Amino acid sequence: MSGGKRIGIITSGGDCAGLNAAIRAIVHRAVNTYGWEVLGIREGTNGLLDRPARYLKLDPATLDAQTLRLGGTILGTTNKGDPFAYPMIDGAVKDRAPEIIGGYRELGLDAMIGIGGDGSLAILRRLAQLGDLKLIGLPKTIDNDVGFTELSIGFDTAVAVATEALDRLQPTAASHARVMVLEVMGRDAGHIAVSAGIAGGADVILIPEIPYGIESVAAKLRRLREAGRSFALVVVSEAVKTLKGAEVQRRYHGGETRFGGIGAYIADVIAEHTGAETRVTVLGHVQRGSVPSPRDRLVASAFGTHAVDLIAENKFDRMVAWANRQVIDVPIEDAIARYRPVELNGTLVRTARALGICFGD
Ligand code: F6P
Repeated sequence: MSGGKRIGIITSGGDCAGLNAAIRAIVHRAVNTYGWEVLGIREGTNGLLDRPARYLKLDPATLDAQTLRLGGTILGTTNKGDPFAYPMIDGAVKDRAPEIIGGYRELGLDAMIGIGGDGSLAILRRLAQLGDLKLIGLPKTIDNDVGFTELSIGFDTAVAVATEALDRLQPTAASHARVMVLEVMGRDAGHIAVSAGIAGGADVILIPEIPYGIESVAAKLRRLREAGRSFALVVVSEAVKTLKGAEVQRRYHGGETRFGGIGAYIADVIAEHTGAETRVTVLGHVQRGSVPSPRDRLVASAFGTHAVDLIAENKFDRMVAWANRQVIDVPIEDAIARYRPVELNGTLVRTARALGICFGD
């Protein structure tokens, strides 16, 4: 027992499935094993910006197994407003890091567990260094591109959703003899596309890590047709570029640009080059909002437990990670410095190629 601590949990950046399982595990370990108090910060760093700082006192009795099944985060989150260059209502940009550090102090926290992707963990670490805050990081992102961890919370569920989408597209593709294009998320990395593409029996997988040519894709689809297959399934990761090398993004109200639209583009060029009838499905945030898969629940629970144990051992500035069926921990600095793209000669790409899946190269 190392009694008397008060720790905070902050979920930061885009939500995903499994965050609540991590929160639940943290609270159970901290309260039941160590006798600590746990505060859940509301809406990411926003909760520490407000005065009084906004939080939920977390009690293991209310975080029962129902919490495991919940998608999203019961604390709320934000992926807006870099605290070091925070956009104010009057259009000015302000460094609000001192206010966030002040919020941490106001709550009397001895340590904080930040659950985020590489961007959020980088921001939280910078705040921790500036304010001498005690930070442990947990990796979460459906993109699964955080360095030094084989798994980030949320990825497995996103793959399950995308795989189910392919399962559902296949019969309608076959009935109408169509080429179905499925656009999946992944920002800069094609992990969801590769995993779901293999698991869901895709014929073509396009990812940002492997430049494609339309001739190669068209040739694959022609071969399928010649072999008597009337339909095809194509998975495209949102960050794949057009044939001219442009990212397909849309500018939204407020000036923010977001990925979206490469699926429609690919469907069009496939139709043009093969004469096939094509249709597009954009999965979008459906990949994030699902009930967490068993694996995400397990990984998140193990991550949460280990994070609390690190605090008990007075080890900070570490990110919990998954490697070789184990929970480990690595310096946050190393994890955020090494972005993890799809390995071009890795097991999954080799497996896909062995199955005849075309990457367009
Ligand atoms: O990084 C996770 C992610 O879901 C990406 O795959 C996607 O491009 C992005 O977040 C979407 O962000 P938002 O929730 O702001 O639309």
